[in-house]
Amino acid sequence: MSEFKTVRGMRDLLPEEARIMRYIENKARRTAELYGFKEIITPVVESYELLSAKAGEEVRSRMFVFKDLGNRNVALRPEFTASVARLVATTFRTEPKPFRLFSVGSNYRYDEPQKGRYREFWQSNYELMGSNRPEADAEILLLTDSLMKAVGLKGYKFKVGHVGVLRGILAQENVEDKVQNAVMQLMDKKQYEDAFRMVEEAGMSQKGVKVLRKLVELKGDKVFDVVEEMKSCVEDYEKAVKATENLSEILKLISESGNKINMTVDAGFARGLEYYTGIIFEVYVPDLDIALGGGGRYDRLIELFGGEPTPAVGVAHGIDRIMLSLQSQKTKPDLDEEKTVMVIPIQEELKTEALKIAQTLRSAVMMVELEVMGRKMVKALEDADRRGISYAVIVGEREFKEGKAVIRDLKKREQSTVEIGKIQESIKK
Ligand code: HAM
Repeated sequence: MSEFKTVRGMRDLLPEEARIMRYIENKARRTAELYGFKEIITPVVESYELLSAKAGEEVRSRMFVFKDLGNRNVALRPEFTASVARLVATTFRTEPKPFRLFSVGSNYRYDEPQKGRYREFWQSNYELMGSNRPEADAEILLLTDSLMKAVGLKGYKFKVGHVGVLRGILAQENVEDKVQNAVMQLMDKKQYEDAFRMVEEAGMSQKGVKVLRKLVELKGDKVFDVVEEMKSCVEDYEKAVKATENLSEILKLISESGNKINMTVDAGFARGLEYYTGIIFEVYVPDLDIALGGGGRYDRLIELFGGEPTPAVGVAHGIDRIMLSLQSQKTKPDLDEEKTVMVIPIQEELKTEALKIAQTLRSAVMMVELEVMGRKMVKALEDADRRGISYAVIVGEREFKEGKAVIRDLKKREQSTVEIGKIQESIKK
């Protein structure tokens, strides 16, 4: 049989990576608790119709789609938002609002594999549903900032835009939804000239095209100045003006919250997912030119799925990419360095005793490995040392007869003989 490999775009996460991934996941979980989000677990497999409804062409064309054995058209989830919206449109339909829902898990997109882009990746996802107020948007941005801080990332920056500005202009220019979606996809990929051509062909006025051209040039860190410029640029487009006011209000809330968040406003910023209606944002670090997280407001998805009209805003963070940037910033997560113990029976007949000691230590919440290879003591110690174990408990006949065992501190290379009942106490010391 040929040698098996992982499928292209799929990865094994080895213990060191898995540990960092779980560390980030735990921080994400803690952040959810701090902001009042409750966890829900939704299926990896959902109906294709649900997942594709508002995913946008870019994500839709990269879904893992298949027929299950019951001939249903299904897909692996490329994100969480559609599943959460489904739940709120159905099971939670009559529950009191708002909902603060958190999910963490794997997602699947048939992206071209490269650094930070995988076909299976992990997200921590937060949806705040039921409020159309700017404080809800501010909460989602602040939550994202809290998580980035909590994992120890440095120099990250938010890129912020507002879909309502762009769509406001397009709608007033009578550009139909389907074309609007295609234009947003092009803008997301920064193919601005193609986007301008498309709106011209759709009958947009020269004035409208000029406004769009101006908008894509408008960006900067002086966020309130940029938003003011945006507002005057779109002054003849009522909905777009309202959108800039909404953006300004959200940014004001954030800046007055006492948190210093590094932000840049980019008026021509668009995102690939089609459901957005309001503020959109992504988070970047200087050394990686792919987003570590992204989100925004989407006020119409839940009613599209047959639920009550429910305004909503949310975000998803790419756990794999956060891990990558921690590595490239050489930030070592403050993983709890717990003491680990290896229990080694010297004689075959003492293996039951060794097992008993291991169990006693485990019930005192110590991380214990039992020597299971039948190795001689020297070999077993070498192996424990190589793998960074802190202590070896050596169970030998001579000491055992006196109710004792040897504890060896593998870091300091010291050892002492202690009573079996006191092993745990002396290691904890
Ligand atoms: P998204 O921007 O498509 O948004 O994905 C969010 C994050 O997932 C990205 O910023 C990135 O860190 C990570 N990600 C996406 N694709 C990949 C990939 N192929 N490999 C590694 N990481 C990846 C959403 O998914 C929306 N559901 C966010 C949202 C929630 N909007 C409202 N609520």
